[in-house]
Amino acid sequence: MRIAVLNGPNLNLLGTREPEIYGRTTLPEIEQMLRAEAAKLGAEIEWIQSNHEGVLVDAVQQLKGRVDGALVNAAALTHSSLSLRDAFLAVKVPFVELHLSNIFAREPERRHSVLADLALGLVTGFGPQSYVLALHALVGRLRAA
Ligand code: DQA
Repeated sequence: MRIAVLNGPNLNLLGTREPEIYGRTTLPEIEQMLRAEAAKLGAEIEWIQSNHEGVLVDAVQQLKGRVDGALVNAAALTHSSLSLRDAFLAVKVPFVELHLSNIFAREPERRHSVLADLALGLVTGFGPQSYVLALHALVGRLRAA
């Protein structure tokens, strides 16, 4: 089973970026943890982080036929990116949306996701553990299908 993990703008700064919200774990540390968890589940991870919307749109377009599903933390693009939404509508790759923080407990502009209704489900608010929970949820759903 092959799973892509897409990470949006500013997630490369995890560890030092607003640690009171996002904690002190870095993105490479999350990647390492998730790869280990995926190995236990017999899945392989393809890891992508970009600060550029178009790069992420390209990445989503290239998922079709190559991966079984995706984990998506689109960061701020979650709240605004219709081009990312359109890319997911086009490829129809099953994905779980995830966030480190609980977006529904934050500023009003973060409480809406333009991707959420396309996702299998959401995991939001568990810090780095959101990635692990989302992976388990996605693998479970893909295996049940
Ligand atoms: C985030 C929440 C977004 O609102 C924010 O723009 C991020 C990170 C999260 O993981 O909590 O960059 O997606």
